[in-house]
Amino acid sequence: MPGTSADRRLVAIYPGSFDPLTNGHLDMIARGSRLADHLIVAILKNMQKQPLFSVEERAEMIRDVTSNCSNVEIDSFEGLLVEYAARKGANAILRGIRAVSDYESELQMALLNRRMRPEAETIFLMAAEEYSFLSSRMIKEIVTLGGDVSQFVPPVVSNRLRAKFPR
Ligand code: PNS
Repeated sequence: MPGTSADRRLVAIYPGSFDPLTNGHLDMIARGSRLADHLIVAILKNMQKQPLFSVEERAEMIRDVTSNCSNVEIDSFEGLLVEYAARKGANAILRGIRAVSDYESELQMALLNRRMRPEAETIFLMAAEEYSFLSSRMIKEIVTLGGDVSQFVPPVVSNRLRAKFPR
């Protein structure tokens, strides 16, 4: 039967802005890397948004915290996610859901992506409850208002944020 062969590899893309990476993202990467044979963390090059960190800075930080995961690749992309997934030979897209509020937009993206490229199945993981309140947007808000975010992000991210926003 097609699709059931034992040698079929799961190549998953975990796409996002990661501006900056949070402990919630890191948990998703760790769990995704245990599920997939190969996991590609793909940073969106979004020309419209003014990011806090450049794509290169974000890639450096993610590389730093995933150096112990041998099946994780860090990359960036622009344009349509499904086209990028096709270029990378990926058969899955990994996304996290924190709360019901994420569901609507994630459902819309997953359904549109499936219509455009049914070969890539979207796999959702529920965020770990201890990280379910985290978002890059809130991290940015706290840090720009002088707050301490060291409990919400990996140390390498916290240090870079402190360098950008000395208290
Ligand atoms: O971390 P984010 O900002 O929630 O990630 C959103 C992301 C990168 C997954 C989404 O914006 C995306 O896939 N952008 C690429 C452009 C695209 O394919 N758009 C159509 C989605 S249906």
